[in-house]
Amino acid sequence: MIERVTELRAHLDAVRGRGATVGFVPTMGAFHDGHRSLMRAARAAHDTVVVSLFVNPLQFGPTEDLDRYPKDLEGDLAAAAAEGVDVVFAPPVEEMYPGFPTPPLTTVSVAGLTGGLCGSSRPGHFDGVATVVAKLFSIVGPCTAYFGKKDAQQLAVVRRMAADLCLPVEIVGCPMVREADGLAMSSRNRNLSPAEREAATVIYRGLHSGADVVIGGERDAGKLRRVVANVLTTEPLVRLEYAEVVAADSLEPLEELTGDVLVAVAAKVGDVRLIDNMTIRVDARGAVVDLGAIVAPTVEGLCAAR
Ligand code: PAJ
Repeated sequence: MIERVTELRAHLDAVRGRGATVGFVPTMGAFHDGHRSLMRAARAAHDTVVVSLFVNPLQFGPTEDLDRYPKDLEGDLAAAAAEGVDVVFAPPVEEMYPGFPTPPLTTVSVAGLTGGLCGSSRPGHFDGVATVVAKLFSIVGPCTAYFGKKDAQQLAVVRRMAADLCLPVEIVGCPMVREADGLAMSSRNRNLSPAEREAATVIYRGLHSGADVVIGGERDAGKLRRVVANVLTTEPLVRLEYAEVVAADSLEPLEELTGDVLVAVAAKVGDVRLIDNMTIRVDARGAVVDLGAIVAPTVEGLCAAR
């Protein structure tokens, strides 16, 4: 494990100096199979794999769950080792933000992509994400970085930020990984009570019902939105925050399903805020829906299946 910026830089400069390539997976820890699938994708394509583990205070609002964010350093180091990760970069907060809790004077903001969806209820969240990811890219240097499609708005923001700032980083989006009952894997799932965990499956069922009507020929974005929202509002323990149908790249709301479409959902289950989505590619031949992959309940099962 490396904690210091200068040490990681020196190490990766030496790695690249030998002609080796670097795969990078930024995370906030509490690893599950979603994180591990990114590490596996990086491992399969690169000589050296770096995982950063940093719970970024800048992307949490004052009333959000920074203090309750799950932490499991020992388990995370073991999981990273099992996936063949070469370096875990786990900086203390002062290493990333000297003078913390005084906020940094320089931040990164991606206009346009950050106002809607999660941006409306989490003001400043995506500035926090863009700032920390820009810093991490600057520290890691030229590499290929792996992000999950589970956080579709984050992926769009990071892609745009890297392109606009000419950062020497190629961004790869990886498939969403789901629990056996369809719930999108998330570090926050650990904070659900058993009853909430059960109720949370309605999110996947809502998206699935939406997928069914699209496969059946529906192309009206408003109707699709209502189908998804109606299923989610049947569950009393789940409070729907939004269900939106937007263009996958610009995140602009759509009236009609055409091109690459993102159907994104956020809901509170108890105190736990969960997000989920599916993408749909619509052309003259029909619609192809991507709901991600449901994995076997154990990592061993997942590895055996591949
Ligand atoms: P974190 O929530 O730890 O997620 C790290 C990476 O894992 C992200 O790219 C996320 O999209 C991906 N991921 C999470 N759940 C997934 C799932 N079920 N299937 C596939 N991929 C999944 O996202 C962050 O951390 C932070 O915002 C970060 C980018 C590290 C900046 O602080």
